[in-house]
Amino acid sequence: MSFSERGGAPPAELARYSFAARMLHWVIAGFVVCQIPLGLYMVARGEATNFDAETGSLYSLHKLLGFFVLWLILLRVLVRLRRGAPPPVATLTALERIVSHAVHVVLYMLLLVVPLLGWAGISAYPALDVFGLFDLPSILPADQALANRILGVHGLLAQTLGLLAAVHIAAALYHRFIRRDGVLRRMWPLR
Ligand code: HEM
Ligand code: HEM
Repeated sequence: MSFSERGGAPPAELARYSFAARMLHWVIAGFVVCQIPLGLYMVARGEATNFDAETGSLYSLHKLLGFFVLWLILLRVLVRLRRGAPPPVATLTALERIVSHAVHVVLYMLLLVVPLLGWAGISAYPALDVFGLFDLPSILPADQALANRILGVHGLLAQTLGLLAAVHIAAALYHRFIRRDGVLRRMWPLR
């Protein structure tokens, strides 16, 4: 028996992001949330200890995780371009739609540019070594002055990404606990 036969309204189907988009969102969010404090800590520790062996390992970890997450981000952008996003939640005002869309676009741009600049920076430095085990591929010829400038921008944009992600998380929590409008459920990894 269908809902209309029983006389009730059909259950409101919540439009959600695809399974792939949801998984990639949370895995990448986890990496970014680790990479920012790790990056800040390793740089501060390098200055305080004159770059001791542990600092070198932290740099290796940061480079390896960042290099790995770059490919996940590329995959995510492809998934997004192919599969699109569910239509916006009906309760959002026109301004909220514009602002949230703009924040998402800037987040995607920073997610791509930040690791690419990190990779370009260590290529130009060159500091491609990971745990003394292997080298990451190089994408720029050696030029230390250029490397320092690129890594400076990498750090600045990574901090901008952190700030924007904090605003984004605050907005998600506002929708979950104040507006209670199902925005978080669209991206929730489970059912
Ligand atoms: C989403 C990915 C990444 C995030 C969020 C991130 C974040 C950061 C942050 C916050 C810093 C500290 C900046 C500072 O204190 O000035 C940093 C530094 C650094 N990152 Fe990344 N990073 C990412 C990917 C990468 C990748 C892929 C590489 C290289 C393969 C890399 C290499 C470096 C290096 C070498 C530094 C030190 C720069 C310096 O000594 O001034 N990062 N990163
Ligand atoms: C606790 C942490 C987080 C929560 C609760 C959260 C929640 C959400 C939600 C609910 C959406 C869907 C919004 C909508 O339906 O329009 C979304 C989308 C998005 N989130 Fe997050 N997020 C978190 C962390 C992050 C982080 C750290 C990043 C990256 C730095 C990120 C990047 C994005 C992007 C780019 C989108 C747009 C998805 C698209 O339309 O393709 N999120 N997030």
